[in-house]
Amino acid sequence: MEKLYHLIKAEQLTPSIVTELLTEAESFNQSLKAGVRHFENLKGVTLCSLFYEESTRTRFSFERAAFLLGATVISTENAAQFSSAAKGESLEHTIKVISGVAQSHLRYADIIILRHPENGAADRAARVSGVPIINAGSGSDEHPTQALLDAYTFEKLLGRLDHFTISFVGDLKFSRVVNSEAFLLSQYPGVKMVFIAPEGLEIRPELKSYLSQKGIEFEEASDIKEVVRESDICYVVRVQKNRIKDKAFLLAYQRNRDNFAVTEEVYKMSEQKGTFFCHPMPVDGEEQEIRQEVENLPRVKMLEQAGYGVPVRMAILAKVWQSQKI
Ligand code: NCD
Repeated sequence: MEKLYHLIKAEQLTPSIVTELLTEAESFNQSLKAGVRHFENLKGVTLCSLFYEESTRTRFSFERAAFLLGATVISTENAAQFSSAAKGESLEHTIKVISGVAQSHLRYADIIILRHPENGAADRAARVSGVPIINAGSGSDEHPTQALLDAYTFEKLLGRLDHFTISFVGDLKFSRVVNSEAFLLSQYPGVKMVFIAPEGLEIRPELKSYLSQKGIEFEEASDIKEVVRESDICYVVRVQKNRIKDKAFLLAYQRNRDNFAVTEEVYKMSEQKGTFFCHPMPVDGEEQEIRQEVENLPRVKMLEQAGYGVPVRMAILAKVWQSQKI
């Protein structure tokens, strides 16, 4: 069995690791469905959830997963404000202390779940850490655990991870989810990707050249209505107002809001194809990229997707802990 010590980027999630983790996640899911609430995979383990950026689903589902597996969790409400980062401490120093690099038996935690606003932060943390680091979102570059739970969702919906068409819609430049997702899916045969973004918020050139080099079929378009009929999955993301510096790009998005939203019209257009609509959440209440009138319809899957965070993160934690004992 392959080891998974740190989980930093989606490229680490090779098809064999994905299969192993998704099989394990499915087994956790079935046990939870049957009412089991106590597992022993992480008995005696302390997990630190270190979030320098806001989070609802990622943090809570990781913490829930940890408790279910028998771990204890130490945490701070907002690491940017309440940890020593507010006093100017570097990420490296914080990680060295929590992971007990000086005296491992006196470490504060055995696994660190890190969310940070800077690209590459999880990588920096992993370089100095004495314990496994799991990237729960770094800047606009990576969110590998979300990519994995999305893969679990697609497999549930389609029964496979190969030979399907996925359209990514919205602010694709700043979405770390789309970036990780594209890396993960690029390893599967026959996955066609379509990217629909407003001017200035298109997928990054590095991702495009990576996909071209790998010979992955992809297209770009400017309106969800052009592609929804051919898409098995339509993956919609919000416009990342917290990261966009040039407001002209935000205005370009807002001027053409309907081109990047699941409206009643879009939902109806995709009836025959049976397109599923996914979204990592949060949905922006102002932009409503998933319109309220469709959000409860059967092919909109974002709430199921969010729930899958629990078994998938249980599988990740169990695997990471097992790998570090080998
Ligand atoms: C995403 C994130 O934080 O990158 N949310 C999540 O983890 N479910 C998506 C987002 O913020 O738009």
